[in-house]
Amino acid sequence: MTDNQEASGTAQRRAVLAGAGMVGVVAALAGCGNAVSSKQQHPAAESTGGHATSSPTGTPDRGDASSSVGIGQDLVSASEIPVGGGKIFGKQQVVVTQPTPGEFRGFSAVCSHTGCIVSTVEGGVIKCPCHGSLFSADDGSVKAGPAVKPLPRRTVTVRGGNVYLM
Ligand code: FES
Repeated sequence: MTDNQEASGTAQRRAVLAGAGMVGVVAALAGCGNAVSSKQQHPAAESTGGHATSSPTGTPDRGDASSSVGIGQDLVSASEIPVGGGKIFGKQQVVVTQPTPGEFRGFSAVCSHTGCIVSTVEGGVIKCPCHGSLFSADDGSVKAGPAVKPLPRRTVTVRGGNVYLM
């Protein structure tokens, strides 16, 4: 290969790399555009009252996880979470409990022992099926081992009568 051929090849590789960089920039900009348009698809957000609090970002449609990144994911109607009990969302790996009327808590559904997904919430206790650890539905603390660490908190909020995972 001559010096000219080598220089030409190097220039071509640079052009290809620069082009690939532009594709990345365009893709990133397109992603931003989607985020804005998904927010604009929900102009009626915050109109339902209830426990809703004001939010600058709006409310996603129920179950529309792709448009809810960063603004909360609608999990369930608050009325479906029993007082003293809770509900487990395996896909999101979260447990939502209602220890006292109107007070909702969120925890990781991944057991702090060796990582099983917890299975039930009854009588104020979250139970892991694998080795029997029990956790408080109020604060996630260990009620019975072998787990020694609490279930980590997950942030949930109630807006318009629905529970959102933040
Ligand atoms: Fe939950 Fe062992 S993984 S008790």
